Amino acid sequence: MKHLLSTKQLAQEEAIQILDLAKVMAQTAEHGAKKLPALRGQTVVNLFYENSTRTRISFEAAAKRLSADVINFSASSSSVQKGESLKDTAQTLTALGAKGVVIRHPASGAAELLAKNNWIPGGVVNAGDGMNEHPTQALLDAYTIRERLFGPIAESRDLNGISVLIVGDILHSRVARSNIWLLHKLGAHVSVVGPPPLIPFGLKEWPVTVYYDFDEALRESKPDAVMMLRIQQERMSAAFFPSLEEYSRGWGLNGDRFATLPPQCLIMHPGPMNRGLEISAVAADSAQSTIVEQVKNGVFIRMSALYLTMSAQSEQAV
Ligand code: CP
Repeated sequence: MKHLLSTKQLAQEEAIQILDLAKVMAQTAEHGAKKLPALRGQTVVNLFYENSTRTRISFEAAAKRLSADVINFSASSSSVQKGESLKDTAQTLTALGAKGVVIRHPASGAAELLAKNNWIPGGVVNAGDGMNEHPTQALLDAYTIRERLFGPIAESRDLNGISVLIVGDILHSRVARSNIWLLHKLGAHVSVVGPPPLIPFGLKEWPVTVYYDFDEALRESKPDAVMMLRIQQERMSAAFFPSLEEYSRGWGLNGDRFATLPPQCLIMHPGPMNRGLEISAVAADSAQSTIVEQVKNGVFIRMSALYLTMSAQSEQAV
């Protein structure tokens, strides 16, 4: 696997390979191995043009656990502020020894641009590009569902027969797009629900059932997992719903809605959360919540993704 750019482009067997290798990484950590020598001598650059807590830190932790050297690049404190292009930035980082790049960028397609033009000699991993995709988030979400539902017998399993309901700001969500493609490929049934202006028109062509009423969606889709999304106010240039209070009443997982869910239904959120808006504390902090596990599992998924993309480069170089 030379690059990891999207889940839309990922074959089912490649997705399962990433999940299974992440499970091996998790088991290795459980057995006390703090570091593996797999990427010793290689340099990974975290090229972040947008803010991040979970993704950037977990890619750094993943690279270090594989014994790679890590360079953290933040566009806000770099020569990007003086007008330097993505191409020139990439070539500068290559000259400084970068072999693999993890990129987050506000423009959809930025990771693909970097990969297709070979501006970096090594692998490119998309850590979120605009409103397009966030493949490692979807992979860690699928991993978390698989572990919670199948536990010790999770290995090599798909998610056939599982129902997942994604709730909220679908329009601006790269997490939703990556999850729809990945969960569908793994055999899950995916539904989405949100206010009509936050459901993209084109979604009717996607492998997904669309609802606008949250309570109806919960009744009809009978979800094994409910994935709440953040309202992305930073990407909104117009009013998409009358008020935050009305949004919360209609599409928030408040205490009353949470109480109607069966106790085995998983509560997910990619973070960062707006507590009290799209999700209540009672749901986020419940035993059904996987939110902290998702963050922990993200390190194993990112170890797997870095290993597969960067070892493909080493094999080509031999
Ligand atoms: N889920 C996610 O991408 O979080 P960060 O923006 O903190 O990386």
